[in-house]
Amino acid sequence: MKDPAAGHNDEAITPDLLRQLAYNEKMAELGKISAGVVHELNAPLSVIISAAQMILREEGVPGAVMEMVSRISSEAQRLSHLTKGLLNFSSHDETVGEVDLNLTVDFILNFLNYEAARRGVVVLRQLDYTLPVIRLDANLLKQILLNVIMNALQAMENDGGKLLVETTTAGSDHICFIITDNGPGIPPEAIGRIFDRYFTTKKPGEGTGLGLFVTKSLVENMGGIIKVTNRNGGGTTFTITLPIRQ
Ligand SMILES: Nc1ncnc2c1ncn2[C@@H]1O[C@H](COP(=O)(O)OP(=O)(O)OP(=O)(O)O)[C@@H](O)[C@H]1O
Ligand SMILES: [Mg+2]
Repeated sequence: MKDPAAGHNDEAITPDLLRQLAYNEKMAELGKISAGVVHELNAPLSVIISAAQMILREEGVPGAVMEMVSRISSEAQRLSHLTKGLLNFSSHDETVGEVDLNLTVDFILNFLNYEAARRGVVVLRQLDYTLPVIRLDANLLKQILLNVIMNALQAMENDGGKLLVETTTAGSDHICFIITDNGPGIPPEAIGRIFDRYFTTKKPGEGTGLGLFVTKSLVENMGGIIKVTNRNGGGTTFTITLPIRQ
């Protein structure tokens, strides 16, 4: 019988790789701790939302107070929505179902809002609202989009970055996600290797080179394909094509 661990033995664990694996492990642990913290936020948020709703139903409250309380209520609801989405995303369970692809793009872009803002990146969405829903695991699709979009943001460290996320149909039986950035692009000697396991141009601790390897495997498991091209004038375009019927 084939030893499932055999494949790992022929890979030398270099000091850099070990540092990367240790970093990954630390981030995974931090992720679990954060999921607990996010879970704890839910209870106080529910209290804030219902208290605000009660005040809003009171009579005789001055208009300015009403306005502030309604802001408290809508911000608390936004946070509650985010924490529920995060808890769902961090769950290990399979979440196969009918997925609204545009809502998934919205979720990931909202999630990465801070990452884009701190790099001064302008995020544009061009979503085809006539897309059909697709039956798949929403969390895996989120992970695919997160990896590709995070790479694009990391490539645009300076102000003036632009990220465009498009959804569209391709023929009658496929849909596409097209993610375009105006970063430096991928050097010709690297473009054939970016989907390889452990291929990274980032410093140790900043990238493991597993992101696109995992992304490509996930896309192919869904029966899809992922392609990359450099754009004239700089930047890259990643196109992910998925079949409508899985
Ligand atoms: N949008 C992009 N613009 C320029 N280079 C990119 C882009 N996307 C990916 N790359 C290149 O492809 C390499 C591999 O990407 P990949 O996501 O697999 O690993 P990584 O981002 O380096 O590390 P991590 O495992 O943390 O994702 C990157 O190191 C980078 O050189
Ligand atoms: Mg990456």
